[in-house]
Amino acid sequence: MSDTSENVDVRWHQHAVSRVEREKKHGHQGCVIWFTGLSGCGKSTLANLVDHTLHARGLQSFVLDGDNVRFGLNASPSLLKERHGEDFAKRFGLGFSSLDREENIRRIGAVAELFAQAGLITLTAFISPYRSDRDGIRARLSKGDFVEVFVKAPLEVCERRDPKGLYKKARAGELKNFTGIDDPYEEPENPELVVDSALHSAEELAEIVSDWLEKAGKIPKK
Ligand SMILES: Nc1ncnc2c1ncn2[C@@H]1O[C@H](COP(=O)(O)OP(=O)(O)OP(=O)(O)O)[C@@H](O)[C@H]1O
Ligand SMILES: [Mg+2]
Repeated sequence: MSDTSENVDVRWHQHAVSRVEREKKHGHQGCVIWFTGLSGCGKSTLANLVDHTLHARGLQSFVLDGDNVRFGLNASPSLLKERHGEDFAKRFGLGFSSLDREENIRRIGAVAELFAQAGLITLTAFISPYRSDRDGIRARLSKGDFVEVFVKAPLEVCERRDPKGLYKKARAGELKNFTGIDDPYEEPENPELVVDSALHSAEELAEIVSDWLEKAGKIPKK
């Protein structure tokens, strides 16, 4: 099959409804709240609690979650193989090698950017272990649109929680390239917010995040 990509003329089409008009209707701006941290640190729990709070306050928010995205947009090679065959799965499936993780986060960043342009407070819950990938998304987005929240918890705490049994599998060598075990987690250097999930309950953390969003003017005051 010949590669026709050079013949494709791709142009940006201007939206008929502007971002500003959408934000005016929502009563707040769109942005991306990017939760990052080790598996089991509490990203999904926190993102969903904040989402619940914002939704209850009449704000427009949505969660993009690591596990869910790997069922569809960034399906694994094994899932794609079942549906579309081996060649397709090899070409488009995403596993957990460093290159695949990079592409996983790049695609999510692009989706989160679209959601922010739609005026949504977009909450993402991905380990996103590599600093360069997170910084890449920050650089793509408009200034102020990317709010990096480091959900901090020591590896021992996350490993003790281990709700999916992943650390156990990684320690047994059944899972390769597992963040914190045999793949690095690069802590954010200048995140907008650091929350400690070993010290605070998820509910307390959700309040800390909501307060921060209010103070930063990302959401209206209660
Ligand atoms: N602040 C907290 N204090 C104590 N336990 C918590 C806290 N936040 C979450 N948990 C618990 O820790 C476990 C892991 O939480 P969660 O699934 O949200 O982590 P995660 O960061 O999304 O992990 P993964 O990257 O694997 O998806 C769950 O059992 C959850 O109930
Ligand atoms: Mg999660």
